[in-house]
Amino acid sequence: MKTDYISISEKYLFDFLPDLNCKEKKLIESMKYSLEAGGKRVRPCLVFEFAQLCGENPEKAAPFACAVEMIHTYSLIHDDLPCMDDDDLRRGKPSNHIVFGEDTALLAGDALQTLAFEIMSSDKTAELIGDKACRKGVNTLAKYAGAVGMVGGQVIDLMSENTNAPIETLREMDYKKTACLIKAACELGCICAGAEEKYIKAASEYGECIGIAFQIQDDILDVTSSNEELGKPVGSDMENSKSTYVSLLGIDKCRELVDELTEKALKSLEVFSGDISSLSYFARQLACRKK
Ligand code: IPE
Ligand code: IPE
Ligand code: MG
Ligand code: MG
Ligand code: MG
Repeated sequence: MKTDYISISEKYLFDFLPDLNCKEKKLIESMKYSLEAGGKRVRPCLVFEFAQLCGENPEKAAPFACAVEMIHTYSLIHDDLPCMDDDDLRRGKPSNHIVFGEDTALLAGDALQTLAFEIMSSDKTAELIGDKACRKGVNTLAKYAGAVGMVGGQVIDLMSENTNAPIETLREMDYKKTACLIKAACELGCICAGAEEKYIKAASEYGECIGIAFQIQDDILDVTSSNEELGKPVGSDMENSKSTYVSLLGIDKCRELVDELTEKALKSLEVFSGDISSLSYFARQLACRKK
């Protein structure tokens, strides 16, 4: 992940937050708390990378990059709640609900979600990238974040606890709960650059492959890493009797799958005429990430 893209993401993320000087101060502090450093910023970096590959100035990609990170952050706040995975550590700090309470954590997630769409559809964003790209971006992110995207995947995840879910169900779960937002980020980078459909499709395929690999690697790290290194509780999947690729296939087979998906992702980049080395490196780095 390029450090300059991480710092651009972080600069804009906090600029977009509402002012703390209001009655809802605690809510905004809670949103800020979860957005703060500690996340890898994989999704905003992908928006910047694809925007640049399609010839756009990365600064113009900032609203979309921040929006996808806000949706991701909301998904993590809700994922940690006692009614979901009940985890008390996130990004190396106590989870949002541990610090602010379940009520505020739930509402901070809700508010991050609406803020994402507010930023994407603002007049300022429309002036920057045009109305058509704004509309397409909002529609893309809403689709991938919703009932048949990330939220749908979370539902399948909860339904599959304490079951011997078959591989097809796990694939659909990982695709929806994790790959969909990563795929959205890749598409959004192309959309804000006004790229042709064939490039959006290629970015989408890349995102889908690295996205599924990303969740498999997440499940591997849940077994092989430590709380300190990962910044979140290891062993959470086993404790919640989750069905994962690791519980079904074992770690060695999972590592093979991560490598296969990464190679497939690299192939999808072949249609681009620009410099794909950074995105190829990114996919390879994610495949052997330790956190
Ligand atoms: C964690 O995502 C949740 C999954 C989709 C596996 P990340 O591993 O990208 O979390 P942060 O943003 O770095 O905290
Ligand atoms: C993450 O799945 C999916 C979403 C947050 C949408 P996990 O439950 O495995 O993520 P971590 O391991 O808690 O980050
Ligand atoms: Mg979960
Ligand atoms: Mg979890
Ligand atoms: Mg996990």
